[in-house]
Order: sequence, then structure tokens, then C-alpha cells
Amino acid sequence: MRLSLTARLTITFVVITVACFSVVGLLLFKVVSRRVYIHDQTNIMLDARHLRRLAEELQSADDLAAHKDRLIALVLGDNANGLRVVDRGGRMLIDHIPLRYELPAQPVVPENQRIVPESIQSWKDHDGNEIRGVATAATLKNGDSVTIAVARSLADRTALLDKYRDDVWLSLLAGLLVAVLLSYLLVRRALRPLRAMAESASAITAQRLSTRMPLEDAPTELLALAASLNDMLARLEQGFARVWQFTVDLAHDLRTPIGNLRGANEVALNRRRSLDEYEALLGSNIEECDRVSRTIESVLFLARAESPQFAMQRLELDTELELLRIADYFEGLSAEAGVTIEVDASACVHADRDLFRRAVSNLLSNALRYTPAGDAIHLRAMHTEQGVDVSVENPGKGIEPEHLDKLFDRFYRVDRSRSDSATSTGLGLSIVKSIMELHGGSVSVWSHANVTCFTLHFPPPQGRSP
Ligand SMILES: Nc1ncnc2c1ncn2[C@@H]1O[C@H](COP(=O)(O)OP(=O)(O)OP(=O)(O)O)[C@@H](O)[C@H]1O
Ligand SMILES: [Mg+2]
Repeated sequence: MRLSLTARLTITFVVITVACFSVVGLLLFKVVSRRVYIHDQTNIMLDARHLRRLAEELQSADDLAAHKDRLIALVLGDNANGLRVVDRGGRMLIDHIPLRYELPAQPVVPENQRIVPESIQSWKDHDGNEIRGVATAATLKNGDSVTIAVARSLADRTALLDKYRDDVWLSLLAGLLVAVLLSYLLVRRALRPLRAMAESASAITAQRLSTRMPLEDAPTELLALAASLNDMLARLEQGFARVWQFTVDLAHDLRTPIGNLRGANEVALNRRRSLDEYEALLGSNIEECDRVSRTIESVLFLARAESPQFAMQRLELDTELELLRIADYFEGLSAEAGVTIEVDASACVHADRDLFRRAVSNLLSNALRYTPAGDAIHLRAMHTEQGVDVSVENPGKGIEPEHLDKLFDRFYRVDRSRSDSATSTGLGLSIVKSIMELHGGSVSVWSHANVTCFTLHFPPPQGRSP
């Protein structure tokens, strides 16, 4: 059975309260019973001592019988008390037992022995009520001996204690009811912030990610939870905003080449064209299509790189070999641009070969685009304290500082007018950043007046120091 938190806490509190009440009730009952018992015991003992002393002051049994009222007065006032005095011959001198119970004849405390609590005996009357009493011998002045028996019926005490026990049970029941009610109300009240959080959480949808958990009333235990949920919501909100922005940028970037395609074809169809013009049109159509497929391929790569299932194959790569191969691959383009590529590498890097080539190629193709003819691009790789750094440095007019931290955003281009160019998707650097994140590394850039340098920081392989 699934119990609510309120029910669980209420049950806990009620169990604790009932346990405490029971222990207190039981203890009180025991203490009161014991007090009553000691009180009666002491009274019986004191009465017996007193009566013996009085008897010892009297002359004879007749004298004692004559002072009967005085002796009875000692135990008078409580119906439960009883007194019997018998002489040695068995003659009843005093017999005052209002409740008519039996008194003990034996054992008798001898004249010369002090009456102590242990001398008191306990027995039952014919109704089963407990009687406590003591019989003691006393020597009269004339040397005769009499037996004085004093007793008290505990019937009234038992009835009183029974009543008291019933009262304790009733109080316990009342306490139980109050505990259930109060616990339920207080627990419900204490859990209000939790319900408020649940309500806020249920109001959250993809469109309403700006909702936050209320922190004002939250108790300290829930504060950390609410704060981390709010942080999570903030991250989700940012993530959704990024995805939304990405979708908008993607749509915009695909619209341009498709618009170009359509526009050029429409213009061409206005009138009859020469074969050369049709060839030029098809050539430009193919260029636009290339741009669209490049954008789609880049977007797919970024989406795959973000998926948790993305599989990398890390190898120990000789950076000199790899950078020389990449430079070789770009030879045609660099010759065309009149730029030389110089490689200076002496490190091994633990990376996925394809991703490494892709990252460096993206940086190199950018560098080629911005390096003035006759200059050289430097590809370098070296060990550092944090791992291995691979850098692509090119001369050129540099990048303004305000653009530097946005360069790695998707679709960001410094020169917006170039965005129409069939060669630019604005995704190259964000792919580089994704690749470095997959490797647990990072990418950084610095640029001043006439030099720009992008550096890939590869961390050392796990468990190995650089
Ligand atoms: N070496 C560089 N010198 C000057 N500007 C650069 C350099 N590298 C990148 N940039 C600037 O950063 C922008 C973003 O580069 P990114 O590689 O992400 O996109 P892109 O080169 O425009 O498109 P793609 O890489 O798809 O061809 C570029 O548009 C350019 O303005
Ligand atoms: Mg680029």
C-alpha cells in the first residue's frame, strides 16, 4: 500500500505520543499505588504501636475493657479499620470490625519486639478483598498478656485505584484522538511548501520553462532541492532557447541558397538563353546545392556529436605526420591563394584521427581564407603542462576583440556580408568546439593587429600525467 508522507508522519507522531502517554500513565499508576500502600502500612503499624503502649499502661483485662472506647477511638473514623483485643484465655475484650472480616491470631509480634513494616501480614476476606494487618502481644501492668490485632481492608483502595486506572485509559484515548488530529493538521501544514513545489512543477511545460520553484516558504531541507531544481530549469530554459535559436538560424541559412537558386533560375527562364549562360546557371546551381548540403552535413555532425552514443576511436597520433598530411591535402588551395603552410610539430596526441583532421582542417580553411597572398600559415603542436596544444596561426587583418567570444557560436560570422558566400556556413568553429569538448579539451583564440591564432588544447590521456 502506498502511504502518503502526511499519513506516515502522522502515524509516527501518534505512535510516539501513545507510547509516551502509556509509559507516563503506567508510571503514575505504579507510584500512586505504592504511595497508598505505604501510607496504609504506616498507619497500621503506628496504630498497633500506639495501642500496645496504651494497653501496657492499663492495670488488667477488665481495666482494658473499661477503656474500650478510648482504644477504639484510635482506629475510629475509617470503616475499613478493625480492632480486636483478646486475653490469654481467649476472652474477647474488644471487637470492633465494621466490615466484618477475619483478623489473624498468628503470628503475633512478641511484647518485647518492635513492630516494623515486615510484621504486617496480608490476606483476603471472603469477598476476595485484600486485608492488611498485624497482631501483637502486650503485657498489662498486672502481668497478664493480651493480643491486640489491628487491620485495614484495602477494598476501598482497590476500587479507587481501579477507577484511577480507568481514568488513565480514558486520558490515553483522549490523548490519542488529540494526537491524531493535531499531528495530521500540523504535518499537512508543514508539508505545504512541498505541495507548492509539486504544483509549480506540474505547471512547467516546454513553453513555460520560466516557471521557478517558490523558495520563500521552503524549509531549509527543501531549499537545496528547490534551488537545484531551479538551476536545472534555468539550464533547460537556456538549452531550449539555444535549440530554438539554432532552428531559426538554420532556417535562415537554408533560405538564402534556396532563394538564390530560385531567383537565378527564374531570371534565366525569363527569356531564351545561350548554351554558355545555361552552363553558368547550372554551375552556380551546383554551388548553391553544395552549400546546402555542406550546411546539412555540418548540422548533422553537430547533432551526432552531442548525442551520448557518439563513438570515438582515440589513438596515439603523431602530430607531425598528421599536420603534414593535412597541409598536403590543402596544397592545391594554398597554392591558388599564394600562401605557404609551415609545419612545426613534435608531440603525440591521444585523439580520434578523423575528428583531429576535421578540427585542424576547419581552422586551416579559415586561415587560408584570411591570409594575404605571399604570407605563411604556421601549424604547430607541442607538449604543455596541461597536455598537448595544436595551433593554427595566420597573418591577416585580425579579428576585433568583441567578436572573439562569439566566434564559436553556431552560424556566427564576423563579416555578415560574406554569409552569402557559397563557401561559408558559419558552423566550422562550432564543429571545432564540439570536437574539443568530445576530447575533454577546449579551443581558444587570440588575435591582434595582424596575426590570428587558434589553439586546440588536448588534455593528457586519463590517468597519465603530461
Ligand atoms: N583565421 C581567421 N582570421 C579572421 N577571421 C576568422 C578566422 N577564422 C575564423 N574567422 C571568422 O570567424 C567566423 C566563423 O568561422 P567559422 O569557421 O565558424 O565559419 P565560416 O568559416 O564562416 O564557415 P565554414 O567554416 O562553414 O566555411 C568566420 O566567418 C570569420 O569571420
Ligand atoms: Mg570556417
